Amino acid sequence: MHPNLMKQLEILGLYKNKKKIFTENHENCIGVKIYNEKLVKFNNKQYRSWNPYRSKLAAAILNGLTFQINPDSKILYLGAATGTTVSHISDIVKDGIIYSVENSAIAIKGLIQLSEKRNNIIPILEDANHPDRYGSIVSNVDLIYQDISQRNQAQIFISNVERYLKKNKIGILMVKARSIDVSLKPSKAYELVCKELEENGLKIKDKIDLSPYEKDHTAILVSI
Ligand SMILES: C[S@@+](CC[C@H](N)C(=O)[O-])C[C@H]1O[C@@H](n2cnc3c(N)ncnc32)[C@H](O)[C@@H]1O
Repeated sequence: MHPNLMKQLEILGLYKNKKKIFTENHENCIGVKIYNEKLVKFNNKQYRSWNPYRSKLAAAILNGLTFQINPDSKILYLGAATGTTVSHISDIVKDGIIYSVENSAIAIKGLIQLSEKRNNIIPILEDANHPDRYGSIVSNVDLIYQDISQRNQAQIFISNVERYLKKNKIGILMVKARSIDVSLKPSKAYELVCKELEENGLKIKDKIDLSPYEKDHTAILVSI
């Protein structure tokens, strides 16, 4: 077990049993599974297993990523897909908001279904390359989380951080090395991304490799 893990479980209110971590299920969703996660009872509360092979954020936490979000945090999530990871963040920020941007009209259907029961999720069908397009919906946030496998993923992240991240708050960028350049070693691809982030005024706070859960992926934690 990574030495940072216990502290992070406490910060996020997670439950751990053996090697698995769990989020406390949203009160409107008792008995409801979002993907094939397990539902368990602990201290009269229902928890959902958080699969690090399905969610890069779970992988990063198990590998030692530490960051602060609170039950009322506002989050901008870029690349929300059908909402696997969004659903676990929704369990954590019970009184917060997750503005969830996804550009696939097919994937967003799952996200819309999820938001019908979970009132802290706002699905937005948009291209994250154009942060101004969702400016009428999204307010400034405490965390920007991005999981978009595009070559210009650093630029997408920077433009959203500049537009929406509150001062002294954090961003988490999930980088897929092969999306940056298949011919580069992953370490070189991460170096290029970090350089681009720093040149645009972002401070790199941590870098966490996601293996064995995801090959050639790293989580980069930044602040401004
Ligand atoms: C790796 S998947 C995200 C998985 C999700 N984060 C999770 O953990 O459940 C990447 C998603 O980003 C979306 N995407 C790609 N380019 C995008 C863009 N420019 N704007 C918004 N979403 C984008 C894709 O449609 C896809 O659903």
